[in-house]
Amino acid sequence: MATKLDSSKKPRVLFVDDEETVLTLYRHMFSNKKSDWEIGYAEDGIEALNLMEEEPYDVLVTDMNMPRMNGAELVVQVAEEYPSTARVIITGFSDQKSVIQCLEATHRFLMKPFEVVNLTEIIQTLIALHKSLNQNTLKEFCGQISHLPSSPKIYFQITEELQKPNVTTEKIASLISCDPCMTAKLLQLVNSAFFGFAYEIHHPKDAVQLLGIETVRSLAMLIYVFSYYEDSDKGGISIDELSTHCLQTAVNAQKISRDMKLPSNIQDQAFTAGMLHDLGKLILATQDPDAYRKSIILQKENKLQDWESEQQVFGATHMEIGAYLFSLWGLPVPIIEAIMWHHQPSKEGPNTFSALSAIYVAESLHEFASDGKKDPTDTDMDLEYLLTSGVTENQLDRWKEDSASVLMAS
Ligand SMILES: [Fe+2]
Ligand SMILES: [Fe+2]
Repeated sequence: MATKLDSSKKPRVLFVDDEETVLTLYRHMFSNKKSDWEIGYAEDGIEALNLMEEEPYDVLVTDMNMPRMNGAELVVQVAEEYPSTARVIITGFSDQKSVIQCLEATHRFLMKPFEVVNLTEIIQTLIALHKSLNQNTLKEFCGQISHLPSSPKIYFQITEELQKPNVTTEKIASLISCDPCMTAKLLQLVNSAFFGFAYEIHHPKDAVQLLGIETVRSLAMLIYVFSYYEDSDKGGISIDELSTHCLQTAVNAQKISRDMKLPSNIQDQAFTAGMLHDLGKLILATQDPDAYRKSIILQKENKLQDWESEQQVFGATHMEIGAYLFSLWGLPVPIIEAIMWHHQPSKEGPNTFSALSAIYVAESLHEFASDGKKDPTDTDMDLEYLLTSGVTENQLDRWKEDSASVLMAS
């Protein structure tokens, strides 16, 4: 039973903990939020589910260790019955076994002891995202999507390792090696022409060393989303074409951001956002394959952009759906913004060259190169946006040539 939530009301946040002192602490910590949030409290999972049945909450924050029903069991049930509720679990070091049980159903984990500011930030990010992605019908639409993949175990594990001071490539590689299917697909991608390595890579350790942890983590996410929908009807979307396009956009966006001398963390963001930017298409298409086929026909017949025909058929676009999913996974905001605005970057706001700009150029140049056009001004590229964000015409020419050569290599 997926219950729709009303986006015009105050966001509703539910805290669940069996210790009265902790609930009292939450009441104290969030007393200044009473005018912004509607806050509920429950002493255990059963009481939480009863409250959700009366009226669902937008965000659920639960302790892991509780009598009768633990946090893991609670989020699994909430994920099933109220898929649009964002789910946060507060865990301790001893909860690792329970964490594994609910990895797929939890959007964020917060380790005890935590700073109030961190929990507030998590809740606010989840609420802000709901709000921005909530305009019109999107939230209702996402609430009806029966299976939205939760963050993959491997993403969570690599992220956790990255937070440790002594993270090593060996440790990351061993996490990947635990999943033979992931390992095979990772090695296949790494050995594709996109990365241009002179020799074949046979081990995840070499992949991590050559590409870096961030890049391998993005590849793992791409592989995970594709595997999640492997057996579904994809409404006319070719997995080969989509994965080639995502990889190409990622590699080009990273090169472009390097050329713009952006800091290395922004280069990584450009790569990740490129890798994930169109995966919303897969979610739309698997939710209603016939409608997606209709949307492809509509696009061709009326010479529309893909997102314009999606908007007409579904009332939502692949950018919004992708941004919604990956924000629930807790990806950094610049990546979410790049996914959200990759077809209309000037809507994002202040015009400085960012991961979003890099994706936009990579995407536009891909269209330009695949259409065999001679002049980049032939594309619908927003040149004013690019020139005011510091790009020169020389750079555009160079990127155009690079983009064509990557396309030929693929
Ligand atoms: Fe794209
Ligand atoms: Fe797109």
